[in-house]
Amino acid sequence: MTKPKHHVLLCGSFRMNGAPLGACAKGGAGKLMQHLLEELSDRGMADVAVSCTTCLRVCDRGPALAVYPENWWFGRIDSEEAVDAVIDSIEAGSPAADYLIG
Ligand code: FES
Repeated sequence: MTKPKHHVLLCGSFRMNGAPLGACAKGGAGKLMQHLLEELSDRGMADVAVSCTTCLRVCDRGPALAVYPENWWFGRIDSEEAVDAVIDSIEAGSPAADYLIG
């Protein structure tokens, strides 16, 4: 097994307790997941893993995702352009300021 160099954690809005806001799922996170996977494949970025997570607790900034080990959190990832900016960030080693949380 080869461990990934980067791991993208895309909020899937799942909650075991609390109000099931579903902000990221309602914002199209599922559709964006497809674009994310296709774009990573097109760019040959096999060292980037993608997982769908429980609620990341930044619902008001959703759709949201985090990139590790960089610990970059991005919000308003609601378009293919935004997904591309996240992937550009990983390639460049510098986070896209327009979408960065915190
Ligand atoms: S539903 Fe995505 S951060 Fe809460």
